[in-house]
Amino acid sequence: MSRNRMVNDRVRWGVSVAIAALVSAGIGQAAPSLMPLPARMTPGSGRLAIDGNFHVALAGPSDEPRVHGAAMRLIDRLSAQTGIPLERALAKSAAAATLVVEWSDDGLPVQKLGEDESYELTVDGKQARLHAKTPLGAIWGMQTFLQLVETDGQGFAVNGVAIEDRPRFPWRGLLIDVSRHFMPLDVILRNIDGMSAVKLNVLHWHLSDDQGFRVESHRFPRLQEMGSDGMYYTQAQIRHVVEYARMRGIRVVPEFDMPGHSLSWLVGYPELATSPGPFEIGRHFGGFEALIDPTKDSTYQFIDSFLGEMSGLFPDEYFHIGGDEVNDKQWRENPQIQQFIQTNHLDGSRGLQAYFNKRVQPMLARYGKHVEGWDEILNPDLPRNIVIQSWRGQKSLAEAAKLGFQGILSSGYYLDLEYPAAKHYMVDPLENETAGLTAAEQELILGGEAAIWSEFVSPETIDSRTWPRLAAIAERLWSPADVKDVDSMYARMAVMSLRLDGLGLRHRSNYAEMLRRIAGPGPWEPVKVLADATEPSKGYSREEKHYVQQTPLNRLVDAARPESGQAREFAALVKKVLANRNDAEMTELRKRMEEWKDNDAKLDPVMKASFLAQDNAALSKQLAEVAGIGLEALRAIETRKGRTAAWVKEKTEALEAMKKKRAEMMVPEIAAVEEMVEASAAPAKAPAKGKRKKS
Ligand code: ACM
Repeated sequence: MSRNRMVNDRVRWGVSVAIAALVSAGIGQAAPSLMPLPARMTPGSGRLAIDGNFHVALAGPSDEPRVHGAAMRLIDRLSAQTGIPLERALAKSAAAATLVVEWSDDGLPVQKLGEDESYELTVDGKQARLHAKTPLGAIWGMQTFLQLVETDGQGFAVNGVAIEDRPRFPWRGLLIDVSRHFMPLDVILRNIDGMSAVKLNVLHWHLSDDQGFRVESHRFPRLQEMGSDGMYYTQAQIRHVVEYARMRGIRVVPEFDMPGHSLSWLVGYPELATSPGPFEIGRHFGGFEALIDPTKDSTYQFIDSFLGEMSGLFPDEYFHIGGDEVNDKQWRENPQIQQFIQTNHLDGSRGLQAYFNKRVQPMLARYGKHVEGWDEILNPDLPRNIVIQSWRGQKSLAEAAKLGFQGILSSGYYLDLEYPAAKHYMVDPLENETAGLTAAEQELILGGEAAIWSEFVSPETIDSRTWPRLAAIAERLWSPADVKDVDSMYARMAVMSLRLDGLGLRHRSNYAEMLRRIAGPGPWEPVKVLADATEPSKGYSREEKHYVQQTPLNRLVDAARPESGQAREFAALVKKVLANRNDAEMTELRKRMEEWKDNDAKLDPVMKASFLAQDNAALSKQLAEVAGIGLEALRAIETRKGRTAAWVKEKTEALEAMKKKRAEMMVPEIAAVEEMVEASAAPAKAPAKGKRKKS
């Protein structure tokens, strides 16, 4: 079935309707907290107990290691989730199993884009039966089964349910940048576990950039020897990651960014460069001028040999050559390069980059690879089997699709910009410019990739900058297009966040560790009160000039969650108070704001005792001030004694000024407090009777 037909089917089925049915089925069960939501789910009957007799039976054409491995991990997870010791052994027979996993085809040993990932999962009081076409569907179905396990009055159980599921998009990825900050192996492995839990299927490994070259090359060892500060993956480690990911249903697409973003290559191999060396690894962030010279034959000999070696290391059919943000200054200023452009009738620097891509693409084709690259590589002369990854919006995807190129969306999914989950969640690969494409053109939009660029992300902070918000993007890419209920997403994401931490991700656990470090010898509670209520500023707001690669990322801005759950709750509470003027809610609101207002004095001795806490003085004062204004507004609302127009104006201006102040951290409660200030205004006096109104 074509993907568009599938999409239409799914719209008709309406998952949210099925879930509502489940809740109202009168069987006293809440909808299970699944993320991503499946394409179709209907309530069943019965309650399948999960106890010490839990066993899995496998029924497929062979003893497929991916399915077997997933079953063993399921047992481990279930044991960890419930605390029940479980045998790591398969059931003697299907009849004796709690969960039967069937698959009909072993699929391809090297997972391919577009392989069938569907599954059906049926649970009743006796057994759970999972059927998939391929091991991939079996892996995803087992992840769903784990999410269905709940606690009730009698024990652990899965309630009766029938699920038919398949992804909306075949390409659902996460880009991890390991160049700006190197991410050790354990970071990569635990993030692969997290990706698999939310059914993401592509790890896009951004392995080289100006600030570091991260793969061992045997043919060109000075790449890692001189370009990595000793922080790179050996080939054995790469193979391990690729296999680890394959076992979990995930393809690994390597990216070696060229011809720009390539300074780290040039340290060991300056002969590749446009300008004379010597070169040093990039230490600051933003752009560099040094770049590869596309006019020399020796450049292509090097790249061909390098790509040949890397193609053997990365079995996936796709290979990413970057191509973004080429700073062409050195090309423009180099007479030989300008002569080359003239002689070859190229369209300036753009034409030169296209020439470069046209020479690199056939090399990768010889190694059995399709090229993937950023928007900038789009050129009608390239073969149509390449994938354009858009970091600049749906427009370039639409342009690519009209030319017949496949594409994936990353614009709107940059996690390192620290936007709220809801903002990412509402971005769809098929909206804006791509919404107007024909059905055939839309088929070329393969999905999307979240990205965690690591300029301001370290091995310690990557999990908390990535999770749990990545789960929301995973749902956008897996679930039907009409799954868009933001409140439901947040409720399920909160449950998923705990599960992911249980899986080994450290986004929750290292929050406390980092805050305690910031507090130093003092009590950490005042630091936590401040961190819980505040957020890093959004977008490209970090003051790059103050940072180099070696700057410690150990301050409040690194520890604070990109999205404050407390701020979200506060905003919801304010809305309720303004609508209902309910006493209990007003008391709750007052308590919260009093805590923030009083926290500033409590933080003072902590700041004196710990240098890391000191740069939060202004933020803490701002939170106290916002809370103080909020308390004054609340008092007026409670007593129904309206504030004067002059007071409202003064406070609104003060809040606006705080919003505009450029800083690395922000107080996200300001908008809700502004609403309170507005609501606290005295009603405008009605014109006195008998007085003539001006018309
Ligand atoms: C990019 O963000 N330059 C791909």
